[in-house]
Parts: sequence; C-alpha cells; structure tokens
Amino acid sequence: MQQERSPFQQLADLLEGVEPGQSPINLTLGEPKHAMPAFIGDIIRENETGFRPYPPIRGTDDFRETVASWIENRYQTGDLITAEKHILPLNGTREGLFHAAIGARDWAKTQPGKPTENPAILLPNPFYHSYAAGAHAMDAEAVFLNGTNESNFLPDLDELATETHLLDRTIAFFYASPANPQGSIASLQDWQKLIALARKHKFMIFADECYSEIYRTTPPPGILQACEGNVSNIITFHSLSKRSNLAGLRCGFAAGDADFLTQWTKYRNMAAPQVPLPLLAAGAAAYRDEAHVEENRRLYNEKYEAARRILGTDLDYQQPEGGFFLWLNIRAFGTDIAVTKKLWKQAGVRVIPGSFLARRDRQNINPGEDFIRLALVAPLDETSTALSRLKSCLLDQ
Ligand SMILES: Cc1ncc(COP(=O)(O)O)c(C=O)c1O
Repeated sequence: MQQERSPFQQLADLLEGVEPGQSPINLTLGEPKHAMPAFIGDIIRENETGFRPYPPIRGTDDFRETVASWIENRYQTGDLITAEKHILPLNGTREGLFHAAIGARDWAKTQPGKPTENPAILLPNPFYHSYAAGAHAMDAEAVFLNGTNESNFLPDLDELATETHLLDRTIAFFYASPANPQGSIASLQDWQKLIALARKHKFMIFADECYSEIYRTTPPPGILQACEGNVSNIITFHSLSKRSNLAGLRCGFAAGDADFLTQWTKYRNMAAPQVPLPLLAAGAAAYRDEAHVEENRRLYNEKYEAARRILGTDLDYQQPEGGFFLWLNIRAFGTDIAVTKKLWKQAGVRVIPGSFLARRDRQNINPGEDFIRLALVAPLDETSTALSRLKSCLLDQ
C-alpha cells in the first residue's frame, strides 16, 4: 500500500495559488468551535503539579472509574466494563486508532488457528485517515468497504459475510458509528452482525464511536449494548474532542476486550503517548458533566435547522442522524474537485472534496467523488453565511 497523504494536504495542493472570491469561511476541519466547558481551566490549574511526573500509561484510577460509570449510565451495561480491566486512556483517539492496528497484529498471533500470512484490515469508505495509516504501518492490505444506500451508507455486512477468505485473513475492522462523513448510525442489529463475524473469523473490531454524543434526537446504540455481556474481540474508542469541544486536550479512551488491552498496554507503555495527569483530571470532570454536552447538541441542531431552511430541497443531502457534517451530493454541478475550486474561488467557502476522504474500491469506484463535506462547526451566523453563499454559487449560474 502507498503512503497516504492526508485529505488536508491534498486540499492545500488543490487550492494553492487560488485566491478566495469573498472573505474566507473554512468548512473543512472537523474541529469543534463551540465553547469548552467552563470548569476545565480551574481543574488543570488545581492539578498543575501533576505536570512534573511522567503519567502512567493506564492513567489514574479516578479517570478510569469515571469512564466506567459514564459507560454504565450511557449504555446501561451494568458492571460489564470495569476500571480495573477494561479501560485505557488515550491521547485522543487518533493515536489510539493508529496504534490499535499494531495491537491487532500482535493479538492475531495469539489466536489459535488464525492465519498470519497476508493480513487484511477492513475500513469503511470514506474513512478516517489514521485507520489507513495503521494498516500502512502494519503492511497489511487495507480493504475499503463502501457504504451503500441499502446499508445506510455503512459497510454492507451481509455482503461481507460471503467473503470468507478475506475475513479469515482479516485482523481488524475499523467501523465508525456515527460515521464520518455521512453521519449514519449503526443499529443494534448491525453491531450484532459485526460481532458475530469477528468471533467467527477471529478479528478485532475497532468501533470508532467518537461522535457518539453528537446526535439529532436519539442516542446512537453503542457496540457495548450489543455484545450480550461478552466484550471479547471488541474495543470501542471514545473521545472528548467532539463531545466536549476539547480537541486540544487530547483525551479519550479505549474500552473492551481485557486480554487485548493487557497485551496492548505492554506495547503502548513503550511507544504510545500518555495523557498528562492534569489533563486526565480535566477529562474526568468533563465525563462527569452532561449539561455542556446537551448544550452542544442544541447548537448543532440549530445549525442543521438553518441548513434545512437555507438549502431547502434545491440541494441534495440527507440530514445526518449523528455527527456534525453535511455530506452534500454535488453531481448535478460538476465533479467534487471542480465544485470545491469554484466554491473557494467565487464564494470564499472552503470545503473538502469527498474523493479526498475515500479511496478507489475493488471495483475502481471512489464513493466520495459525487460529494463534498461541510463541517458545521463554526457559529450559527458564520455557518449560515457560508451555506447561503454556497447555495447561490451553485444555483445562480
Ligand atoms: C471518525 C474520527 N475518528 C477519530 C477522530 C480523532 O479524534 P481525536 O483524536 O480528537 O479523539 C476523528 C477526528 O476528526 C474522526 O473524525
């Protein structure tokens, strides 16, 4: 597999030397802009002596216990996930997802009867780039699985179930719900099908649930609700970046399979970044508070309502069930690349072409190429201005 270039590097190359036609508005980065919780600064100051020592890779009891209670409350999982055995803090899920691919290779070697030749790692398509970076680091074949209309834009698990040779050599499957960019949410049945495949074919599921708290009306079901009291083959990834507008805190967690985590912790203790102690204290406080998360959802919902009013039915998109992106079908107006350039040049609106977030699949189709992605992270007025400009630029020829 070729070394990947990030979608943002590709975009910078595409728009190099092209001046924005109006004051620039950037809708490319999935970086939350709503206020972070007011208490974060005080907690970091109160714990500042914790910057002196090296932080332990397993974090603090307080962080893991808080996360265990948060999981129990959010997913009604009783004592399935314990602070002692089932949780590891992460320096943001980006590094966790990347290092997980290395963990999967080591774990697969301990599974009796698991083929070790020619390993494959399954990814959704479009996908988050650190999954592909992990597959690249492992020299594993990255197999991109397109979502389709029929599968609610998530990888089609019924079709995948027929590919037994591929599944037998699969060591890990990165599966995101809510999905970035489409915002689709896996049902409990989807999660159950995925778990059954993982156990039958002995691979790890890396469930990327970092958008789990950003939803329109109904909380997305989590993989831990579908596992019937048994977390083997499952690691779920969560983050405070989107939930709490704390992308710069670099704090999240992995939870699930205790055997995988024990082995992975040994590796992580040599190579992965820890989370500084004052930041773990702040992260725990953020997980103890839901008021700011509710406000966050309200603000996103307000922007989706504005999008509905502004874009109306003239442009082709579906209100996503989760996440904070708009995945706009622009086929009627040209290629994603041409539309991206035009929006920047005429309207000063910077978007990301869908094809930069996906790869050509085994049928040589890039499922992103009819789309652009808009991140609705800026304040309401800025987002509304961008959407109005985008609409006029595309429709008023
Ligand atoms: C799907 C997905 N997974 C993981 C991440 C990583 O988030 P963080 O490292 O901030 O937890 C992102 C960030 O944009 C994302 O979109």
